[in-house]
Amino acid sequence: MAVGRHIDILRAGLSRACCLRADLERELAEIADSTSQVPDDEHDAEGSTLGYERARASALLAATRREIDDLTDALARASVRHPESGRSKLSSRRLMVFLGAKGGVGTTTLAANFAVAVAQDSGQKTLLIDLGQPLGDAAINLGVAPEYSSANAFQESGRLDANFLASLLTAHSSGLSVLTAPTDFTPAQPTIEAIDKLLAVARQSFRNVIVDMGARLDLRASSLFEDTAVIYLVAQVGISELRNANRLIKHFFAERGPKLQIVLNRFTPHTLTFDDEHITKALTRPATWRIPDDYATARRTQNTATALVLEDSPIARAIRLMARDACGLPANPAKKKGFSFFS
Ligand SMILES: Nc1ncnc2c1ncn2[C@@H]1O[C@H](COP(=O)(O)OP(=O)(O)O)[C@@H](O)[C@H]1O
Ligand SMILES: [Mg+2]
Repeated sequence: MAVGRHIDILRAGLSRACCLRADLERELAEIADSTSQVPDDEHDAEGSTLGYERARASALLAATRREIDDLTDALARASVRHPESGRSKLSSRRLMVFLGAKGGVGTTTLAANFAVAVAQDSGQKTLLIDLGQPLGDAAINLGVAPEYSSANAFQESGRLDANFLASLLTAHSSGLSVLTAPTDFTPAQPTIEAIDKLLAVARQSFRNVIVDMGARLDLRASSLFEDTAVIYLVAQVGISELRNANRLIKHFFAERGPKLQIVLNRFTPHTLTFDDEHITKALTRPATWRIPDDYATARRTQNTATALVLEDSPIARAIRLMARDACGLPANPAKKKGFSFFS
């Protein structure tokens, strides 16, 4: 089996283990909640059951953490020995395009937070372009207030150059630059030429360009889908999401190999309706990434308009793992004192 394939398997294993860990952490928190309602264990008929459940979940969590550490080390070793099998080298320019298999699957949440993580962890110039329709909401996810938007770039496409583009961008505290979507409905849609021009100018100035395309397929003819771009196809485990993903992969991405990364968002390891085999069949290959369902964090960060990847949570860890892989960085950042995403 090719080395790249082994690395893909390690990556998928790591992503699965992270979801399992998120599940166990949630289970433990629920047990802790329910035991806190019980004042005295001795008089609690359920006491031994809860104690047993807690011990079981703690042991599983510890085992999962060890598995994550082992997989992280194995992935780091494999990537160091075979740097060419990584998604891209640290020095290369990258175009990373997030496409939803359907509206509402979490494309903006993932694209925006992935972009923040790429900007922070690579330390390189990074741009997020929001092409989501009708209004896009990357700005809301990141808590930035834009003055200009992509509409300005498209309206004056002829005079778009690096300086003009720079004047349209909004800065995020992470160092990420953002070209937001218009905040109001715009009558004219950008032409393919205008999109291509924007991408060409953006790639002159930025090492990493990340695009939130939402679920739109009308830009297929643009350079967003050129061979060097990595497409992150975002789906969820559900009948229509998996069916859409299946059609998209078969019709447009069958030949793309590792330049297509399939991301299963809001993933819970124990779904009753779909097992791994069903999911892999629908996607025609195993999912590359699984992002845990993390409603509380998604909700909290939406209400406070802060990028969720800036705080530690199961979903933040999973997104950062993806971002580090995209930049050719080892999965496990050098441990800083006090705080680690993988602690
Ligand atoms: N992993 C996740 N866990 C829980 N909620 C999520 C997750 N990802 C996204 N969401 C929530 O799903 C909703 C849709 O997300 P959004 O990123 O706007 O989707 P899209 O851009 O595909 O329309 C939002 O309320 C978001 O907070
Ligand atoms: Mg969106």
